[in-house]
Amino acid sequence: MKTNKDKDFNYWIEKGKEMVAERRQRIARAKKWKFDTVATHGLYDLNQALRWNNGSIMEPTYLTPAQAYLNSAEMEVALSYQMPNWCYSRIANPSSFFLEEASALLETYGSDIQGTCLATASGISAIRTATDPFLVKDGNFPNPNIVSSAKVYGGTFQQFRVRRHIEQGIEIRWVKEPEDLEEWASKIDKNTRFVYGEFPSNPSVAIFDISEVAKLAHESGIPLIVDSTCASPALTRPLTLGADIVIHSASKVISGSGTSIIGLLISKMNITSKIGTDEMKEDFATWAKFWPFRDNGPALHSMAAILTLNDMRTLRMRIEQMSNSTFALARYLEKHPKIDRVHYPGLESYPAYSLAKKYMKLVDSGKNMFGFMLSVEIKEDTPDSSTNTRKFYDALQLAWRAADLGRVKTVATLNAISTHQQQGEEGRALAAVKPNTCRIACGVEHVDDIIDDIEQALRKV
Ligand SMILES: Cc1ncc(COP(=O)(O)O)c(C=O)c1O
Repeated sequence: MKTNKDKDFNYWIEKGKEMVAERRQRIARAKKWKFDTVATHGLYDLNQALRWNNGSIMEPTYLTPAQAYLNSAEMEVALSYQMPNWCYSRIANPSSFFLEEASALLETYGSDIQGTCLATASGISAIRTATDPFLVKDGNFPNPNIVSSAKVYGGTFQQFRVRRHIEQGIEIRWVKEPEDLEEWASKIDKNTRFVYGEFPSNPSVAIFDISEVAKLAHESGIPLIVDSTCASPALTRPLTLGADIVIHSASKVISGSGTSIIGLLISKMNITSKIGTDEMKEDFATWAKFWPFRDNGPALHSMAAILTLNDMRTLRMRIEQMSNSTFALARYLEKHPKIDRVHYPGLESYPAYSLAKKYMKLVDSGKNMFGFMLSVEIKEDTPDSSTNTRKFYDALQLAWRAADLGRVKTVATLNAISTHQQQGEEGRALAAVKPNTCRIACGVEHVDDIIDDIEQALRKV
């Protein structure tokens, strides 16, 4: 029997190896499960409960900043990342660990791909953490540029345009029509550091061919980063289609009951990049956690991690109900005389309908489903008017007027005056956000009540 005195450096190194092997076994077991089982259990099992958590059937939430170690040898091994540990809540905590493991499994579900995940304080910090490492100084590629879909969330547009371009001088090459592969191809050159797109985009609901854009990026030796917030792994899993890194604003549908702001960054092993070290490319999310994330500090609270994990267990079921309701609403609105246009990937009038059918399927059912978000353009007398749109919007009684989406409660948003206000008229034109654009994200209420509310509001126009 080893006494504490015998637990030296080598003892902890061996212990670390055992822990890694045991974790691999739990991953292999979870890889055989269906999506809902992975979402419900992740890597938390009886052994974890009995050994570390007083037998609790739910994952731990420790309100504590730091982990204690038995002796200096354990501390040295742990803090040089040679054994799994969480050490300090700015780097990790036991709750974020289980959230990260489950997220990586869901995002790579249905494939042999091994993913790793880093949970962050917000979706916008996940984007920053995912993109920063590709924008460092590199003499071989002196004038960095980013090729990004212009149809992205307003906060992402501003992060790229203001923080990257205006403040740091990095060129942003906007792809105006993300369905057009030639446009992506024409913008990538030897100084492009990464390619970025949203699937589907918020709020214009545009999509792009993930596999083809990934091929274009890889031909130039650079990664494709996809914000998959509005699809979620219950519909589309970009890593399995060729993307290198996926980010989520898990503040949205992943934590649908709306208790937290949280981001996820999930990467697959051995990403493509001409920038950075081999260690960075081999396991990007883990590398980001141990190095830049630790230094920059956008950590999440353990409470946010556990609340998100709890909601994630029912993700597929919510996506199914929300998608069915949104589709019914889209069909209803498409025929309505006061509506100019409906953007929803499930409609045959949708420009990339066949691509949507290829990429958007409810996991484990094979059925096409197209998500919880649509946008409409309300009929106005002139293109720059929003009079009718505001009358409709102000008359909503069940749907909340808020800058939010993916919630269990239906939310409607006028994006030109909210999420996309700061980017100005020119930026909004690029992102296809019009004064009469209204985004509607269906919740899990009964669809009849959602449509009744929209109908009574349209009668006020
Ligand atoms: C598509 C998309 N990506 C990223 C973000 C930013 O996420 P967060 O608000 O969690 O920082 C949002 C927020 O609305 C979003 O809709």
